[in-house]
Amino acid sequence: MSELKKIGKKVDRTLASFRVNGAVHRIAVRPYDVLLDVLRETLGLTGTRRGCDMGTCGCCTVLIDGRPTLSCLTLALEAEGKSITTIEAVAGAEGLHPLQESWVETGASQCGFCTPGFIMTALAFVEEKGEPTEAEIREAISGNVCRCTGYVSIIEAVARAAADVARRKAAGTYVSPAAVAKEE
Ligand code: FES
Ligand code: FES
Repeated sequence: MSELKKIGKKVDRTLASFRVNGAVHRIAVRPYDVLLDVLRETLGLTGTRRGCDMGTCGCCTVLIDGRPTLSCLTLALEAEGKSITTIEAVAGAEGLHPLQESWVETGASQCGFCTPGFIMTALAFVEEKGEPTEAEIREAISGNVCRCTGYVSIIEAVARAAADVARRKAAGTYVSPAAVAKEE
């Protein structure tokens, strides 16, 4: 808890604009509010999970201007005017994203708590790397923690999705969730 919260000092809020999954929201935020709270508490986007709340588990990962970012460590005001993509926007009009399909196919979710964070981290990665090695996948997801799966199925899911995204890109049929969120 911040010092200001502890001493109960009234802090002025700032009206800020946030583009989340393509929709623009004007929200009054305090200087110490973090993006995770704005997403979950103000906008009701609870797909982004609160795990450790201190930057070590990756559960709260979202994309900001296409880059995986820990929303528990990002001040809301830092994200003002940027394009934020959450797990809620990953499935498109054409159905599940290749990552979501591969997660289902490989059984990469057990309790599922970590899944949104892994998928948001992997999303930027599979859009960049067509045929990643296992070592590259391990490195890409090294900031995300899963207590259930042992990671083998997660690595397999990312590899399958990367190949699928590469195929769809080659065929000109791939639609990036982050690009859609930016344009809408
Ligand atoms: S909740 Fe943000 S890294 Fe764990
Ligand atoms: S599936 Fe349970 S923490 Fe990852």
